[in-house]
Amino acid sequence: MTTATRATRHRLSADGVPVGQAWTGRHLLDVDQLTPPEIAACLELAVEMRERRERRERLQTLAGETIGLAFYEASTRTRVSFELAAGALGATVVDLRPDASSATKGESLLDTLRTLERTGVTTVVLRHRAAGAPYLAARGTGLRIVNGGDGAHAHPTQALLDALTLRDALGELPGRKIAIVGDIGHSRVARSNIHLLGALGMRVRLAGPAAWVRDFERWPGVEVHRTLDEALRDADAVMALRVQLERGAGGGIPTLGEYRRRWGLNEERMRLARLDAPLLHPGPTNEGVELTAALAGAPRSLIGRQVTNGVAVRMAVLSLLSGAT
Ligand code: CP
Repeated sequence: MTTATRATRHRLSADGVPVGQAWTGRHLLDVDQLTPPEIAACLELAVEMRERRERRERLQTLAGETIGLAFYEASTRTRVSFELAAGALGATVVDLRPDASSATKGESLLDTLRTLERTGVTTVVLRHRAAGAPYLAARGTGLRIVNGGDGAHAHPTQALLDALTLRDALGELPGRKIAIVGDIGHSRVARSNIHLLGALGMRVRLAGPAAWVRDFERWPGVEVHRTLDEALRDADAVMALRVQLERGAGGGIPTLGEYRRRWGLNEERMRLARLDAPLLHPGPTNEGVELTAALAGAPRSLIGRQVTNGVAVRMAVLSLLSGAT
């Protein structure tokens, strides 16, 4: 451990939260496992990692660790940013590439992960179409597991990078209103964000086709709106979600054209939100469906910023899980 590393262990954030400490949990399965100080520590450490990355510092805090990427579902942002984050911390990275692995010969998820463990992998970032797969992996192996997105259940690092992006744009989050709109029913991003942004004191509004918001009407602290305009009015921030056809979303809407007319975001509709309210989208976007290309490229769009923050947040997550801050 370097002197600089030791110095971060006892630093306090502006609101007196200890920064740079290890999280208590061994895995990151969803954001609901994190205490408010753990969330604050992650966001603070991500800011520090972002600055160190901008200075092109190469850290060695995870030298000796081997991080496996096991993405059983397609990914660009999450996979690439975890690879860069692990490398920037000095870890060795192994990309399993399930479609070219012995999973194609019928090897089970647990057998594959146990094989990685026996080769010396210490942490696995797992993305899987089955909700709960990371929990199975955490119970069934000795690996440290980071959930890189499981089915429609959770995407904790996406929520953390969204929170950082919102804090960059809005400053203080408590009491601010965010409208999350679109295919909420199939969205692991929405579920993790509802937990995290609520824990950070934001007022979460949801709007989308009835079939996709029905299950959220009883969620504590969430407002479900019948129309897009209602959800957008005076919102401090807006998050658009992709229609997840790969999870059967087509069954909840008549056609994509009809969806766009009722629920698609454009600059005119965004005028209902507060002036300059930032627009977020976890990506990938389907421009022309959930939002226009003009809006995706507008000054209020933070879609690129979210991707950039993803590397810093994942550096913070890997550091906090290993205790190497
Ligand atoms: N937001 C997100 O998870 O993107 P990828 O599927 O490209 O990783």
